[in-house]
Amino acid sequence: MASTTAGETRAAVIPKQQSAADRVQVAAPSRREFLYYIWGASIALLLGQATAGLVWFALPIFKEGTFGGVFAFTPDKVPDQGGAPRSVPEGRFHVAYPDEGLVALYGVCTHLGCLPKWSATNNRFECPCHGSKFELNGKYLEGPAPRSLDRFRTTITFEDGTVLTTNDSGDPLPLGGHGAIISIQIDTGDKLKRDGKV
Ligand code: FES
Repeated sequence: MASTTAGETRAAVIPKQQSAADRVQVAAPSRREFLYYIWGASIALLLGQATAGLVWFALPIFKEGTFGGVFAFTPDKVPDQGGAPRSVPEGRFHVAYPDEGLVALYGVCTHLGCLPKWSATNNRFECPCHGSKFELNGKYLEGPAPRSLDRFRTTITFEDGTVLTTNDSGDPLPLGGHGAIISIQIDTGDKLKRDGKV
């Protein structure tokens, strides 16, 4: 029986080491392929962003009945003409019915953003922070506020089919002469600034 040396024994147990070239089975992409991959990934990313942007703009940002969206105000709740306004805290507005017609007043003071409250005693809105005061129709009376209360665009549909919508000046909507009110929509996403203190 032939004898074996120590070196021959180790060679039988441990496989012969492969060269680096043998170990690399997958060929690296060529420069041209690499550029194709980068180009493809860029196009895919661009398309993804464009699709996300389209979906974002297509969906309404504000839901109906939440601030920033449209509120349905029940006609039965329209206050008496000249009476105390109705507050809708979730919409941050007051519905007032002064002599000129119906207005939806933004309930935030035009000075520094406090919340004026209706004073039944003085028949006006009074701001608790720095004392600005506003009439029932939101018109500035006194104090540091720079302008009258802002208003929200309102659309009223009447029994006879007439539809009235607040103009860009925020003028009140007269309620007479068209029969019963069918619906009142107040758009809290469409704030109208009064021209100064009118
Ligand atoms: S925040 Fe209303 S008067 Fe200043």
